[in-house]
Amino acid sequence: MPDPVSQGILPGGDDILLRRAFPALPALFAILIAVLPSIPDSTILISGGTGSFGKTMATHLLEQGCREIRIFSRDEWKQDAMRADFQDERLKFYLGDVRSRPSVDDAMAGVDMVFHAAALKQVPSCEFFPMQAVLTNIIGSANVVDSAALHDVKSVVCLSTDKAVFPVNAMGMSKALMEKVAQAKSRALGKQDTIISSVRYGNVMYSRGSVIPLFMRQIKGGEPLTVTDPRMTRFLLPLREAVRLVEFAWKNARQGDLFVRKAPACTVQDLAEAMCQIFEVDLPIEVIGVRHGEKMYEALASAEELRRSEDMGGFLRVSMDGRDLNYNKYVSEGDDPGVAEDYTSDNTERLDLEETKEMLLTLPEIQHELAAWRAR
Ligand SMILES: NC(=O)c1ccc[n+]([C@@H]2O[C@H](COP(=O)([O-])OP(=O)(O)OC[C@H]3O[C@@H](n4cnc5c(N)ncnc54)[C@H](OP(=O)(O)O)[C@@H]3O)[C@@H](O)[C@H]2O)c1
Repeated sequence: MPDPVSQGILPGGDDILLRRAFPALPALFAILIAVLPSIPDSTILISGGTGSFGKTMATHLLEQGCREIRIFSRDEWKQDAMRADFQDERLKFYLGDVRSRPSVDDAMAGVDMVFHAAALKQVPSCEFFPMQAVLTNIIGSANVVDSAALHDVKSVVCLSTDKAVFPVNAMGMSKALMEKVAQAKSRALGKQDTIISSVRYGNVMYSRGSVIPLFMRQIKGGEPLTVTDPRMTRFLLPLREAVRLVEFAWKNARQGDLFVRKAPACTVQDLAEAMCQIFEVDLPIEVIGVRHGEKMYEALASAEELRRSEDMGGFLRVSMDGRDLNYNKYVSEGDDPGVAEDYTSDNTERLDLEETKEMLLTLPEIQHELAAWRAR
């Protein structure tokens, strides 16, 4: 049986913590590698392909030997930088905007798989310009799934976020509606048609605008590390795990499925302390209070969704709500409440300080910063 580590699907031996956090993965991936179609011979479209997810996914797909990757996004400079960085003829660049259906159609012809990552994802900008979030995250996503179905694409995976669960801001609301748009399209399609699925994950560790780069800047500046509330918890997910989630969804999706990556979490206090210990600094940790629109913990799946979910080791599959538009099923007929709790960063596996440090040290960005810090 092929080994998922040597295949590059799972991290190597120094990534013990991840393997402990996601124990069922090696066996599951070995089975998948053995029985599922491989990426070679596929033409893959990544909307938002110049973003953090897109670049990491493109690297992974090129290593797997795919035939062609189409990078679809708006900014020609980011595309040019990526072209220069990758220098791989299998990468093709498509300038376009998900809001413009003709530009999506141009890129879609002849595609086997779509990873739909293009999005407006900053909470404050979507809060001030909610209609921009509607245009990109909802209407743009409808353009992508409609075009994919029309062009007989085999599979589309739409990337969503924990902020779509019980959304409290325009960004989360627009992503929640993206999920609904994807599922509504799935309902209208058959099992033999384009399979449309979604994935949900929480903040990617070290992503732009997140707390770890902020702590890093504060450590470099010798400033106090600012935490909102020491008890606040957050899921910990490295970018490579987001890529694996999307790959898992593509390989396992049935029509309308939504996949969630089970992930460990820690408190923001432990995260700040872990950063100080890794960089061997003795800086105060200052509590600044919870910011507008921020939750004490994040949810990846609601109790209602968990009732129709399947535990797949490191992943949860939430099946599409298959009820037809019969109002009785929504209004007058009850259902067994079953699972009572949502799946949140508060009730998932909690990493302690040492484990948080270990997890942080697996990040290439932290390894790079640490080497520069020690060499200064
Ligand atoms: N990063 C996280 O922590 C996180 C967590 C959960 C879920 N996600 C989801 O994962 C996906 C990818 O995130 P990311 O971190 O890779 O984002 P990112 O780095 O900000 O990249 C976003 C990409 O989308 C493109 N884009 C934006 N608007 C577009 C439009 N209207 N038409 C076409 N392309 C457009 C951008 O390029 P141009 O500006 O050149 O168009 C860029 O390539 C998003 O859907 C996000 O919601 C991210």
